[in-house]
Amino acid sequence: MSKEHATLTIEDKIYKLPIVRGTEGDKAIDIRKLRTETGYITLDSGYMNTGSCRSDITFLDGEKGILNYRGYPIEDLAEKCSFVEVAYLILIGELPTREQLNDFRALLSRFALIHEDLIHFFDHFPPQASPMSILSTMVNTLNNFYPEMSGDSDEDLMIISARLLSKIRTLAAFSYKKSVGHPLVYPRYDLSYCGNFLNMMFDKPVRPYVVHPEVVATLNKLLILHADHEQNCSTSTVRLVGSAGVNLYTSISAGISALWGPLHGGANSAVIEMLEGIRADNNDFEKYIQKAKDPNDRFRLSGFGHRVYKTFDPRATIIKRACTKTLEALQVEDPLLEIAMKLEDIVRHDDYFISRDLYPNVDFYSGIIYRAMGIPTDMFTVMFAMGRLPGWIAHWSEMMQDTDDRRIGRPRQVYEGPVQRDFVPLHERS
Ligand code: CMC
Repeated sequence: MSKEHATLTIEDKIYKLPIVRGTEGDKAIDIRKLRTETGYITLDSGYMNTGSCRSDITFLDGEKGILNYRGYPIEDLAEKCSFVEVAYLILIGELPTREQLNDFRALLSRFALIHEDLIHFFDHFPPQASPMSILSTMVNTLNNFYPEMSGDSDEDLMIISARLLSKIRTLAAFSYKKSVGHPLVYPRYDLSYCGNFLNMMFDKPVRPYVVHPEVVATLNKLLILHADHEQNCSTSTVRLVGSAGVNLYTSISAGISALWGPLHGGANSAVIEMLEGIRADNNDFEKYIQKAKDPNDRFRLSGFGHRVYKTFDPRATIIKRACTKTLEALQVEDPLLEIAMKLEDIVRHDDYFISRDLYPNVDFYSGIIYRAMGIPTDMFTVMFAMGRLPGWIAHWSEMMQDTDDRRIGRPRQVYEGPVQRDFVPLHERS
């Protein structure tokens, strides 16, 4: 523990608070003993300024637009790795050797099937059920079908991770097939992680699906870009739920529910709805820009802004490039791409957005790529969840293994309700 400290003066009394520094220069004031020593708590709604843990997994610098998983820049990982390799890195902390990668792939294949009884669950969701609610329910119930493991050793962690990574892909594809009323397509051992998912989604008895290498490469990239993002809303939810001692599946199911929100992972489908709205309104950009600026209107430009990134989101830069390339390779012409680019251009020259540091985020162009791949809009956030899974598992496991500093998540509050008063019996109340 460092000897550096900050001083805080309250009512003429001086308190020393330890300073904590991260390996990439993050600075924090340790206030864990603040309340016991001073009687004060800190007030920080939305946790704008609160470090909830120390973590070895992901570093991001919002001012410089840096995102590193386990020290490796996102640009390198997205360009040179498969999603499975990056999942291994995030979970174990090191890039796998060829042998380790093959072993991990073999585990993923071994766990690809889901228990046949789980398939009956799909029959009882109403036809209009959201794939996110289905996914969160199904992941939660995995706990009833598969043994609980602590993830304490690397071997244990590999098994629970492979099981969940592999089954979530099967569950996601099955939920799509059920929603369109098509027969289920089972996983194949000869296909890669992403190839298998695409095949389970799109293969039909009447028209066998041919896995397109460009689509597989793009899907790998998208999943890598989503694989972790330190203490975002869904990951913090996974940690908070897990901090009560809850099993991995249920903690992840809670994370999926948090991700569903339009301010978080749900933004990728909201972007497409917004772009379609602009198109239906004869490209009336001004209407949407004015709505977004109006403080009395709850409408926001989906896919713009980020709590941490204040110059650019490095994931958005990579996705924008991949978007043009994928559409060209698949010979898809999507009018929404042009609308998206025009909207970005307007936003980048508008003082309202410039002064608030609002730039495209990871969700702005990803939906256009998913559309080109044939993935329906209501499945976009499911794709995000598949990508974010290694991060959620790694954070759950990091927290569970933290024997020094693991405690139940339990924020405080400043109470502003009525002060204590005398009880009034029912017959005396008017
Ligand atoms: N459109 C219009 N105005 C916006 C937007 C937007 N997309 N985002 C923020 N603002 C304004 C906001 O109204 C506020 O203005 P003012 O200072 O006049 O009150 C100011 O910018 C600061 O906004 P905030 O809500 O205090 O910022 P935040 O850090 O709490 O919210 C955010 C971050 C991502 C929730 C927000 O930017 C937003 O709602 N964006 C749209 C939804 C979206 O794209 N979400 C995906 C985020 S990236 C993927 C992920 O990690 O989930």
